[in-house]
Amino acid sequence: MSRPQIVVHRSDTEIDSELEQACRSIGGAAPVFHFCDVLRDTISTASDFQPVVFMVELSLELDQVRVLVDEIIAVCPDVTVVGICAFGGASNSDESALMMSALRLGVEDFVRRPISSIDFGNLLTRRISNRRNKKSSPGKLVSFVSNKGGVGKSTCAVNVAVELAQRDPERVILIDGSLQMGVCAAHLDIEPQTTITDAWNQKDRLDPQLFKQLTAVHESGLHLLSAPSNAIEAAEIDDAFISRLLLLARRTYDFVIVDTFPLFDRTIMAVLDLSDAAFVVTDNSIPTLKSVRGFLQLLSDVGYPEDRWRVLVNRYTTKSGSPPLSDVENYLARSIDHMIPLDGKVTQSANLGKPLMMSNTRWNKAARQISGIVDSIEVMSNQEVVRDEASPIGSTSNGNARDGEQVPSSIGSEEG
Ligand SMILES: Nc1ncnc2c1ncn2[C@@H]1O[C@H](COP(=O)(O)OP(=O)(O)O)[C@@H](O)[C@H]1O
Ligand SMILES: [Mg+2]
Repeated sequence: MSRPQIVVHRSDTEIDSELEQACRSIGGAAPVFHFCDVLRDTISTASDFQPVVFMVELSLELDQVRVLVDEIIAVCPDVTVVGICAFGGASNSDESALMMSALRLGVEDFVRRPISSIDFGNLLTRRISNRRNKKSSPGKLVSFVSNKGGVGKSTCAVNVAVELAQRDPERVILIDGSLQMGVCAAHLDIEPQTTITDAWNQKDRLDPQLFKQLTAVHESGLHLLSAPSNAIEAAEIDDAFISRLLLLARRTYDFVIVDTFPLFDRTIMAVLDLSDAAFVVTDNSIPTLKSVRGFLQLLSDVGYPEDRWRVLVNRYTTKSGSPPLSDVENYLARSIDHMIPLDGKVTQSANLGKPLMMSNTRWNKAARQISGIVDSIEVMSNQEVVRDEASPIGSTSNGNARDGEQVPSSIGSEEG
């Protein structure tokens, strides 16, 4: 499950630490807060991040609250508006009068300060988890990340996306988030007419329909949103826009696959925040493993939930002194979720602009492993539907396929 976005409009900045404190002891995906105190910023932040919850301090003038609520609902019609009631002090009757007025303005729920983790956890359960059961859930977002280039992020993203699309045509989008140097179009032998730059230029009118128009359709049934055509165009695009683009993609498609650039910057953070599963791609050469070990540590240090990462060892070979999977696991101090062997056919198909998964791949070991990854993504998607019906946010369960998924039985026995 990706982290819920919450926009908070307040003048008292102590609310920020109260909310962050209240979150610490809540299980499940921790919300991402965006704190604002100027109307214009609040509206543009809400428009960018499409929060599930908008919180507003009720000690503001009610007229101000009215304007805020009206504007917020205009830019994100599905949001739940929650009033933050002041510390004690007001008499019960004053407080209920205030709540009644706030309800009339469109405030749907309340929390009282100081905000306790129990109250806040209950609020999330009421407003996020229960609501998710009612509406059709957004698509699953799966990213391929690494701090190393050349490990196969793009190859894996393209092949996984193509295989998913062959199973579920027109429901899968591949977003080439490798903004500085996109290659997905070349992998698919597509000459894109439009790219992420067009989405950026039309950001004020971007909706699912326009979004689809900006994609190219591949013969597998996959839709592709290509990277900007050059690094100068890419430099303009900010992380808030990427978040918005990904949220829109999830509303438009069942599966959103994102290829990324080997950096740890704000764009990657935005992608990770919204990823239901992030495949951390490495090969099994010692220099890459050293570097990827640091990357995993970094993910842990920034609090990225470990149950959403999947370690993918690609280009796996034990030739030339490269370590076997058991040593890789020891070295990274965690289990390997997936492995794809080094296989010349992978490169060959990329050179032909015809991804491996488009060919007759029944006997190919690399293709079988990619198929296994796609199975796990489908399992994750199905599990989340079942889990959403069964358990509220705040329980320790999560949307990760590893709960019930088998690591491919062939893992460890393959050699490139
Ligand atoms: N499993 C594999 N077997 C053989 N070659 C591979 C495999 N995966 C990727 N490659 C090749 O490795 C190179 C780098 O892959 P790429 O997907 O561009 O990496 P990244 O996106 O991480 O920079 C490409 O030439 C690609 O064809
Ligand atoms: Mg790449």
